[in-house]
Amino acid sequence: MTILVTGGAGFIGSHFILDWLLETGEPVINLDALTYAGNLENLAVLQGNALYDFVCGDIQDRRLVDRLLVEHAPRAIVHFAAESHVDRSINRPQDFIQTNIVGTYTLLEAARSYWSKLQYGARSRFRFLQVSTDEVYGSLGAADPAFSEASLYQPNSPYSASKAAADHLVRAWHHTYGLPVLTTNCSNNYGPRQFPEKLIPLIIANAMDRKPLPIYGDGMNVRDWLHVGDHCMALRIVLERGIAGQMYNIGGNSEMTNLAVVHNICELLDEMRPHADGPYSNLITFVQDRAGHDRRYAIDARKIGRDLGWQPTETFSSGMRKTLLWYLDHQEWVSDVKTGAYQQWTIRNSEARA
Ligand code: NAD
Ligand code: DAU
Repeated sequence: MTILVTGGAGFIGSHFILDWLLETGEPVINLDALTYAGNLENLAVLQGNALYDFVCGDIQDRRLVDRLLVEHAPRAIVHFAAESHVDRSINRPQDFIQTNIVGTYTLLEAARSYWSKLQYGARSRFRFLQVSTDEVYGSLGAADPAFSEASLYQPNSPYSASKAAADHLVRAWHHTYGLPVLTTNCSNNYGPRQFPEKLIPLIIANAMDRKPLPIYGDGMNVRDWLHVGDHCMALRIVLERGIAGQMYNIGGNSEMTNLAVVHNICELLDEMRPHADGPYSNLITFVQDRAGHDRRYAIDARKIGRDLGWQPTETFSSGMRKTLLWYLDHQEWVSDVKTGAYQQWTIRNSEARA
């Protein structure tokens, strides 16, 4: 038994692979193109692990995906690979259309061809897990009920529109061809090894450098936060027990304004790393808003709790404290990312071993 993971060198994918190997011991093939967001240092502990294989390649490369499916005969594909940052999608949507839409289409077609030739038992057990986002549902008003699996898709950014398009393809490949798919829609993740373009790792990195902490607009946009470990656990459970063709919302029951998140980080830093120049919150700076900025996301995760028995184990407060401790203890990881040295990790690692 083997699973194929795409985008496993990124933030959530690398956590998923590490947790998966720990929890299941089932082999993993990781297909990742190593864009700016891919960091093999995230998986350095797997060097020499016989249960893990890394393949550098693009999910849009149909021949490569076909070859991997035939060679490794996975029982599932867990699809993380994506362009994932909203601000980048606003500046340059093209990569989002290519990877998130064309890439997912390519994977679906390769999966369909492979799956249709499997023996009956393997065919019915096969799963294609689409790792998606709550952003496909659009934006909520302050008093609106949280997004449920029945909410309409109303994406507002090039990123969320490309993920929504991919989710629709996944749905259609199930409805039309019978491909056994699962789709998860998760809220904002945080935790160790997140690329410092996203709010939480950016604020931590800037605070450590005594740089301004940028808050878009009035800082009152609301996100629901989930520790990445809880997301990975949910994905394992969905893969194991989810019903093919179903969607599962995943969330942390932790709605907060961006300003509250940043103040929370500042207060923790005041406690853990007090600075002579005064409280970290002095660095908070309001900057120009994001174009088309979604006001509020909130997730109704009752279905996955009721049907599959998943609940988050971390509160925002417990998860954030652990996350901050990790960043404070791994300043080298942060500086490798900031200098770009992480992209040389494979070369440095093989030189060091030679
Ligand atoms: P990330 O940007 O950290 O990592 C993406 C990974 O995909 C990188 O390793 C990159 O090299 C790889 N990749 C990009 N284009 C590729 C291509 N064409 N072929 C192969 N590999 C490619 O992303 P993340 O934050 O870990 O998110 C992973 C998935 O989870 C995404 O699909 C995202 O939409 C979804 N998601 C993320 C969050 C979040 O808060 N980060 C929340 C919900 C859902
Ligand atoms: O909701 C799930 C989504 O969460 C994922 O699908 C995306 O891949 C992931 O990037 C994330 O999207 P957001 O746009 O919500 O995350 P980001 O960290 O970029 O921003 C969080 C909020 O903080 C958002 O309201 C914008 C704001 N922000 C962000 C940055 C980078 C700031 O105020 N200042 C900043 O410097």
